[in-house]
Amino acid sequence: MTDYALLTRQLDALLDTRDWLTNAAQTCAFLMQELDDLNWAGFYLHRQPETLVLGPFQGKPACNPIPFGKGVCGAAARSRQTQRVEDVHAVADHIACDTASRSELVVPIMVEDSVWGVLDLDSPRLARFSEADRQGIERLVEVFIKASELSSQVHG
Ligand code: SME
Repeated sequence: MTDYALLTRQLDALLDTRDWLTNAAQTCAFLMQELDDLNWAGFYLHRQPETLVLGPFQGKPACNPIPFGKGVCGAAARSRQTQRVEDVHAVADHIACDTASRSELVVPIMVEDSVWGVLDLDSPRLARFSEADRQGIERLVEVFIKASELSSQVHG
């Protein structure tokens, strides 16, 4: 079992600036280092209307941009709900950036009732993310949000 209480304290200590760019880069490197069986961890940013633009990440080069209407990331942004996908092959809408990915967790990042972006984690293991992982990773996203100066960055 992953000790998310410990990871929460460690991430809180790591994010010692208010700069979201630095904190986003540190957060995905930290997750890649601390969580088993990930092949991709990164941020998509809501920088164009209803569109997610690739941000800091760890892993292979990825798909960009992703409209709100497409993929698991788009579903997270559209619904404002975490998407936990046990088998990406069972999701018709899944965007396969890396064919190694088998399961996925996408957490929306909300700032003042607007979608600021999403955190996307991919795993080569089927059903890698449990409900406990969802809750733990949502807490880690809260740490990122609290640590960072986040204002709307949507440009026409
Ligand atoms: N699989 C995602 C696309 C992003 S990559 O996994 C990095 C999706 O369906 O939205």
